[in-house]
Amino acid sequence: MKKIQTITCCLFFLFTTSNILAASKVELDNANTDIGDKQSLKNGFELFTGYCLSCHSIKFSRYSTIANDLDIDDNYLKNNLLFGDRKVGDTIKSPMLEKYANKWFGLNPPDLSLIARSNGVDYIYTYLKSFYKDDSRPFGVNNKVLIGSSMPDVLSELRLSQSEKEFDKNVRDITNFLDYVGEPAKIIRTKIGYYVLGFLFVLLIFSYLLKKEYWKDVKYGKWRQKK
Ligand code: HEC
Repeated sequence: MKKIQTITCCLFFLFTTSNILAASKVELDNANTDIGDKQSLKNGFELFTGYCLSCHSIKFSRYSTIANDLDIDDNYLKNNLLFGDRKVGDTIKSPMLEKYANKWFGLNPPDLSLIARSNGVDYIYTYLKSFYKDDSRPFGVNNKVLIGSSMPDVLSELRLSQSEKEFDKNVRDITNFLDYVGEPAKIIRTKIGYYVLGFLFVLLIFSYLLKKEYWKDVKYGKWRQKK
Protein backbone atom coordinates (compact mmCIF):
# COMPACT_ATOMS: atom_id res chain seq x y z
CA MET A 1 0.00 0.00 0.00
CA LYS A 2 2.82 2.34 0.95
CA LYS A 3 4.48 1.65 -2.38
CA ILE A 4 1.36 2.73 -4.26
CA GLN A 5 1.18 5.91 -2.20
CA THR A 6 4.81 6.76 -2.98
CA ILE A 7 4.32 6.13 -6.71
CA THR A 8 1.16 8.27 -6.76
CA CYS A 9 2.99 11.06 -4.93
CA CYS A 10 5.89 10.94 -7.38
CA LEU A 11 3.57 11.00 -10.40
CA PHE A 12 1.58 13.88 -8.94
CA PHE A 13 4.78 15.82 -8.28
CA LEU A 14 6.10 15.11 -11.78
CA PHE A 15 2.94 16.28 -13.54
CA THR A 16 2.36 19.38 -11.46
CA THR A 17 5.96 20.63 -11.72
CA SER A 18 6.15 20.01 -15.47
CA ASN A 19 2.93 21.99 -15.88
CA ILE A 20 4.28 24.87 -13.85
CA LEU A 21 7.45 24.92 -15.97
CA ALA A 22 5.45 24.83 -19.19
CA ALA A 23 3.14 27.58 -18.02
CA SER A 24 6.03 29.96 -17.34
CA LYS A 25 7.01 29.97 -21.03
CA VAL A 26 5.59 32.21 -23.75
CA GLU A 27 2.41 30.83 -25.27
CA LEU A 28 3.29 29.39 -28.68
CA ASP A 29 1.11 29.72 -31.77
CA ASN A 30 -0.02 26.55 -33.46
CA ALA A 31 2.24 26.01 -36.50
CA ASN A 32 -0.41 23.82 -38.13
CA THR A 33 2.07 22.35 -40.62
CA ASP A 34 1.29 19.49 -42.98
CA ILE A 35 4.30 17.33 -43.83
CA GLY A 36 2.34 15.67 -46.65
CA ASP A 37 2.08 18.98 -48.52
CA LYS A 38 5.03 18.86 -50.92
CA GLN A 39 4.28 22.28 -52.38
CA SER A 40 4.63 23.78 -48.92
CA LEU A 41 7.88 21.89 -48.27
CA LYS A 42 9.26 23.02 -51.62
CA ASN A 43 8.41 26.65 -50.92
CA GLY A 44 9.96 26.25 -47.46
CA PHE A 45 13.16 24.91 -49.01
CA GLU A 46 13.36 27.86 -51.40
CA LEU A 47 12.73 30.36 -48.63
CA PHE A 48 15.28 28.63 -46.43
CA THR A 49 17.88 28.87 -49.20
CA GLY A 50 17.08 32.54 -49.74
CA TYR A 51 16.71 33.77 -46.17
CA CYS A 52 18.39 31.39 -43.74
CA LEU A 53 21.23 29.51 -45.41
CA SER A 54 23.54 32.53 -45.35
CA CYS A 55 23.86 31.91 -41.60
CA HIS A 56 22.39 28.47 -40.77
CA SER A 57 23.47 25.06 -42.04
CA ILE A 58 21.37 21.92 -42.19
CA LYS A 59 24.46 19.79 -42.45
CA PHE A 60 22.83 16.35 -42.31
CA SER A 61 20.78 16.97 -45.48
CA ARG A 62 21.92 16.72 -49.07
CA TYR A 63 20.52 18.70 -51.99
CA SER A 64 20.00 15.50 -53.97
CA THR A 65 18.00 13.78 -51.21
CA ILE A 66 15.77 16.78 -50.70
CA ALA A 67 15.22 17.17 -54.46
CA ASN A 68 14.28 13.51 -54.62
CA ASP A 69 11.92 13.61 -51.64
CA LEU A 70 10.20 16.82 -52.73
CA ASP A 71 10.04 16.00 -56.46
CA ILE A 72 12.26 18.92 -57.44
CA ASP A 73 13.50 18.82 -60.99
CA ASP A 74 17.30 18.50 -61.38
CA ASN A 75 17.56 21.48 -63.73
CA TYR A 76 15.41 23.63 -61.48
CA LEU A 77 17.63 22.68 -58.54
CA LYS A 78 20.81 23.55 -60.40
CA ASN A 79 19.53 26.84 -61.75
CA ASN A 80 17.71 28.18 -58.74
CA LEU A 81 18.87 26.60 -55.53
CA LEU A 82 22.52 25.71 -55.91
CA PHE A 83 24.75 28.71 -55.68
CA GLY A 84 28.53 29.02 -56.10
CA ASP A 85 30.28 25.79 -56.99
CA ARG A 86 27.91 23.58 -55.02
CA LYS A 87 27.16 20.11 -56.35
CA VAL A 88 23.87 18.21 -56.30
CA GLY A 89 25.31 15.63 -53.90
CA ASP A 90 26.67 18.16 -51.38
CA THR A 91 25.48 18.52 -47.82
CA ILE A 92 23.80 21.85 -47.11
CA LYS A 93 26.25 24.05 -45.27
CA SER A 94 26.21 27.77 -44.66
CA PRO A 95 29.09 29.72 -46.19
CA MET A 96 29.38 31.75 -42.96
CA LEU A 97 32.80 31.42 -41.37
CA GLU A 98 32.86 30.81 -37.64
CA LYS A 99 35.30 33.58 -36.85
CA TYR A 100 33.08 36.20 -38.52
CA ALA A 101 29.94 34.77 -36.98
CA ASN A 102 31.48 35.09 -33.54
CA LYS A 103 32.46 38.67 -34.27
CA TRP A 104 29.04 39.67 -35.65
CA PHE A 105 26.65 37.75 -33.45
CA GLY A 106 28.76 36.75 -30.44
CA LEU A 107 28.09 33.10 -31.31
CA ASN A 108 27.87 30.74 -34.25
CA PRO A 109 24.29 30.51 -35.63
CA PRO A 110 23.16 26.98 -34.70
CA ASP A 111 22.77 24.20 -37.25
CA LEU A 112 19.01 23.81 -37.77
CA SER A 113 18.95 20.11 -38.71
CA LEU A 114 17.32 19.02 -35.49
CA ILE A 115 15.70 22.22 -34.24
CA ALA A 116 12.19 20.94 -35.02
CA ARG A 117 12.84 17.81 -32.97
CA SER A 118 14.40 19.57 -30.02
CA ASN A 119 12.10 22.59 -29.84
CA GLY A 120 9.03 21.60 -31.85
CA VAL A 121 7.39 23.24 -34.85
CA ASP A 122 5.25 25.63 -32.80
CA TYR A 123 8.45 27.06 -31.33
CA ILE A 124 10.04 27.78 -34.72
CA TYR A 125 6.83 29.22 -36.14
CA THR A 126 6.27 31.55 -33.19
CA TYR A 127 9.96 32.48 -32.92
CA LEU A 128 10.09 33.66 -36.54
CA LYS A 129 7.01 35.83 -35.99
CA SER A 130 8.03 37.28 -32.64
CA PHE A 131 10.67 39.86 -33.48
CA TYR A 132 9.97 43.35 -32.18
CA LYS A 133 11.81 46.67 -32.25
CA ASP A 134 14.26 47.15 -29.40
CA ASP A 135 16.94 49.80 -29.87
CA SER A 136 19.04 48.48 -27.00
CA ARG A 137 19.91 45.38 -29.07
CA PRO A 138 22.79 45.35 -31.62
CA PHE A 139 20.44 44.73 -34.60
CA GLY A 140 17.64 46.92 -33.23
CA VAL A 141 15.33 43.94 -32.63
CA ASN A 142 14.56 41.54 -29.83
CA ASN A 143 12.48 38.38 -29.74
CA LYS A 144 9.60 37.51 -27.41
CA VAL A 145 10.27 33.78 -27.56
CA LEU A 146 14.06 33.90 -27.20
CA ILE A 147 14.67 37.09 -25.26
CA GLY A 148 18.04 38.65 -26.12
CA SER A 149 18.34 36.57 -29.32
CA SER A 150 21.27 37.70 -31.43
CA MET A 151 19.54 36.82 -34.70
CA PRO A 152 18.46 39.79 -36.84
CA ASP A 153 14.85 39.99 -38.05
CA VAL A 154 15.71 38.51 -41.44
CA LEU A 155 12.09 38.18 -42.56
CA SER A 156 11.15 41.84 -41.93
CA GLU A 157 11.27 42.76 -45.61
CA LEU A 158 9.11 39.79 -46.54
CA ARG A 159 6.62 40.71 -43.80
CA LEU A 160 6.35 44.28 -45.05
CA SER A 161 5.86 43.25 -48.67
CA GLN A 162 3.06 40.75 -48.07
CA SER A 163 -0.34 40.45 -46.46
CA GLU A 164 -0.40 38.90 -43.00
CA LYS A 165 -1.99 35.75 -44.40
CA GLU A 166 0.68 35.32 -47.06
CA PHE A 167 3.46 35.95 -44.58
CA ASP A 168 2.05 33.43 -42.10
CA LYS A 169 1.84 30.86 -44.88
CA ASN A 170 5.47 31.43 -45.83
CA VAL A 171 6.64 31.15 -42.22
CA ARG A 172 4.55 27.98 -41.92
CA ASP A 173 6.25 26.58 -45.04
CA ILE A 174 9.75 27.27 -43.64
CA THR A 175 8.70 25.59 -40.38
CA ASN A 176 7.26 22.64 -42.29
CA PHE A 177 10.51 22.29 -44.21
CA LEU A 178 12.55 22.29 -40.98
CA ASP A 179 10.21 19.63 -39.59
CA TYR A 180 10.94 17.48 -42.66
CA VAL A 181 14.70 18.15 -42.32
CA GLY A 182 14.57 16.93 -38.71
CA GLU A 183 13.05 13.62 -39.77
CA PRO A 184 12.88 13.04 -43.55
CA ALA A 185 11.22 9.65 -43.08
CA LYS A 186 8.23 11.41 -41.54
CA ILE A 187 6.76 11.96 -45.02
CA ILE A 188 6.57 8.21 -45.60
CA ARG A 189 5.91 7.33 -41.97
CA THR A 190 2.74 9.40 -41.73
CA LYS A 191 1.51 8.06 -45.08
CA ILE A 192 2.08 4.45 -44.01
CA GLY A 193 0.24 5.25 -40.78
CA TYR A 194 -3.03 5.67 -42.70
CA TYR A 195 -2.54 2.36 -44.53
CA VAL A 196 -1.85 0.61 -41.23
CA LEU A 197 -5.00 2.05 -39.67
CA GLY A 198 -6.96 1.00 -42.78
CA PHE A 199 -5.57 -2.52 -42.54
CA LEU A 200 -6.43 -2.72 -38.84
CA PHE A 201 -9.97 -1.60 -39.60
CA VAL A 202 -10.44 -4.33 -42.22
CA LEU A 203 -8.89 -6.82 -39.80
CA LEU A 204 -11.35 -5.70 -37.14
CA ILE A 205 -14.30 -6.59 -39.39
CA PHE A 206 -12.95 -10.08 -40.10
CA SER A 207 -11.99 -10.62 -36.45
CA TYR A 208 -15.50 -9.69 -35.41
CA LEU A 209 -17.05 -12.11 -37.90
CA LEU A 210 -14.66 -14.83 -36.74
CA LYS A 211 -15.52 -14.18 -33.12
CA LYS A 212 -19.23 -14.46 -33.94
CA GLU A 213 -18.57 -17.75 -35.71
CA TYR A 214 -16.67 -19.21 -32.71
CA TRP A 215 -19.18 -18.07 -30.14
CA LYS A 216 -22.02 -19.52 -32.11
CA ASP A 217 -20.56 -22.94 -31.30
CA VAL A 218 -19.98 -22.08 -27.65
CA LYS A 219 -23.50 -20.77 -27.21
CA TYR A 220 -25.44 -23.21 -29.37
CA GLY A 221 -22.96 -26.08 -29.90
CA LYS A 222 -24.05 -29.72 -29.91
CA TRP A 223 -23.28 -29.91 -26.20
CA ARG A 224 -25.60 -27.03 -25.39
CA GLN A 225 -28.96 -27.17 -27.05
CA LYS A 226 -30.58 -24.10 -28.47
CA LYS A 227 -33.56 -23.15 -26.33
C1 HEC B 1 22.19 36.93 -40.36
C2 HEC B 1 22.30 35.62 -39.84
C3 HEC B 1 21.03 34.81 -39.65
C4 HEC B 1 20.07 34.53 -40.58
C5 HEC B 1 20.04 34.95 -42.04
C6 HEC B 1 19.11 33.68 -39.94
N1 HEC B 1 19.47 33.45 -38.63
FE1 HEC B 1 18.51 32.26 -37.32
N2 HEC B 1 19.90 32.66 -35.90
C7 HEC B 1 21.00 33.49 -36.09
C8 HEC B 1 21.73 33.55 -34.85
C9 HEC B 1 23.00 34.36 -34.62
C10 HEC B 1 21.06 32.72 -33.93
C11 HEC B 1 21.41 32.44 -32.47
C12 HEC B 1 20.50 33.26 -31.61
C13 HEC B 1 20.86 33.19 -30.14
O1 HEC B 1 20.99 32.06 -29.62
O2 HEC B 1 20.99 34.25 -29.54
C14 HEC B 1 19.93 32.16 -34.64
C15 HEC B 1 19.02 31.29 -34.07
C16 HEC B 1 17.98 30.69 -34.75
C17 HEC B 1 17.09 29.70 -34.20
C18 HEC B 1 17.23 29.05 -32.85
C19 HEC B 1 16.54 29.75 -31.75
C20 HEC B 1 16.86 29.02 -30.47
O3 HEC B 1 15.97 28.91 -29.67
O4 HEC B 1 18.00 28.55 -30.29
C21 HEC B 1 16.19 29.37 -35.16
C22 HEC B 1 15.04 28.38 -35.07
C23 HEC B 1 16.51 30.15 -36.31
N3 HEC B 1 17.59 30.96 -36.03
C24 HEC B 1 15.82 30.09 -37.49
C25 HEC B 1 16.14 30.83 -38.61
C26 HEC B 1 15.43 30.75 -39.85
C27 HEC B 1 14.25 29.80 -40.12
C28 HEC B 1 16.00 31.64 -40.69
C29 HEC B 1 15.56 31.96 -42.10
C30 HEC B 1 14.23 32.47 -42.24
C31 HEC B 1 17.12 32.26 -40.00
N4 HEC B 1 17.16 31.74 -38.73
C32 HEC B 1 17.97 33.17 -40.56
C33 HEC B 1 21.35 34.15 -37.24
C34 HEC B 1 20.64 34.13 -38.41
